[in-house]
Amino acid sequence: MKIFLDTADLGEIRRAADAGLIDGITTNPSLVAKVAGKRDPKEIYLEICKAVNGPVSLEVVGLDLSTMLAEGRKLAAIHENAVVKVPLTEAGLKACKALVSEGHRVNVTLCFSVTQAHLAAKAGATYISPFVGRIDDIAGEGMGLIHQIRQVYDNYGFATEILAASIRHPVHVVEAMMMGADCCTIPPSVLWQLSKHPLTDKGLEAFLKDWEGLGAKI
Ligand code: E4P
Repeated sequence: MKIFLDTADLGEIRRAADAGLIDGITTNPSLVAKVAGKRDPKEIYLEICKAVNGPVSLEVVGLDLSTMLAEGRKLAAIHENAVVKVPLTEAGLKACKALVSEGHRVNVTLCFSVTQAHLAAKAGATYISPFVGRIDDIAGEGMGLIHQIRQVYDNYGFATEILAASIRHPVHVVEAMMMGADCCTIPPSVLWQLSKHPLTDKGLEAFLKDWEGLGAKI
């Protein structure tokens, strides 16, 4: 499964990219607002695109089709890694179709149902982003949606990649893999949690203690 980092924090992006652990980045307007201060978000987008070797989702903020298209084209022109992110609305689906036909890659975001995901695939989306954590927040079953979309996409041979989003903890990541999501976008804190295990720490401590007794060097 591809791992994307869900952040606009360049420090975190470089840390994960330098470790060779991520395949791309997703941003959204809220994540950019957290780090931008007075800076032009487009500068930040360019820095992010240069920092990774993979797709970087950059979201439009217009609501009507012509604004989405104009913003989408500008975002796509920032860098070859840019993927235009559009919301799953009627205008967003139309924008997706048009941008894809112009040769751009599109991530359709804010997906909460399998019918929405089906339409995004028909609109030629490169990625569909079902928001697992936000469904769980309202006592739904976020991972059930990933399972449904996987089945529908496989039934009909859609090439749209399922990008599990709104990931809150490592169990979400495990479930996304089990459900056959193509990609999962993960906040930095969750990414680093994935590498931790108390038995690893305990085992390492014991190995080093035993080695110390030898008084030897490698
Ligand atoms: C996806 O692309 C979004 O940026 C993100 O996963 C939203 O997650 P949240 O529900 O934690 O805000």
